[in-house]
Amino acid sequence: MKRDKIYLVGFMGAGKSSLAQALAHRLDWRAEDIDALIEEREHRSVSAIFVAHGEAYFRSLEREVLRDLLGLRHTVVATGGGTFADADNRATINADGTSIWLDLPFEGVLQRVPSDGSRPVAPDRASMAVLYGIRRVAYQQAHVRLDVSRTSVGELVEQVLDQLGF
Ligand code: S3P
Repeated sequence: MKRDKIYLVGFMGAGKSSLAQALAHRLDWRAEDIDALIEEREHRSVSAIFVAHGEAYFRSLEREVLRDLLGLRHTVVATGGGTFADADNRATINADGTSIWLDLPFEGVLQRVPSDGSRPVAPDRASMAVLYGIRRVAYQQAHVRLDVSRTSVGELVEQVLDQLGF
């Protein structure tokens, strides 16, 4: 397990992007966000990419961006909710750094993620629930699991540092 790179994985709404920023700041590392890099590259939002080109195209961009980040060390990467669900991405991530699953109970997801179709893979509550169940099996393969349901970002930063022995 390589300790000079951290990947934050987990379902939509788990707080991957904000924890990546806070952790990188604390460690004096770099923070990268796969969704943000895709949006920069394509000059449009993730939702607009799904509408214009479909999910398969988005997933291929996600894989490319992940590969482009492999050279970086001392970096915290916020993945998208589906990145770690792909077996190849999962193997790549687990070989390149330490993966941390931000585990948020489904009730928390419902509070944080609007099920109004504004997120491409969350058209309604029922399909989000199905996806949540399927994805947990993948997230369980992360090196570290963090319960993020009742914890502030500041406390989570300290928990990660403890877990990784920093
Ligand atoms: C997705 C989650 C989103 C984004 C895209 C697909 C997913 O990222 O990558 O909408 O499949 O769960 P967040 O988890 O940052 O919302």
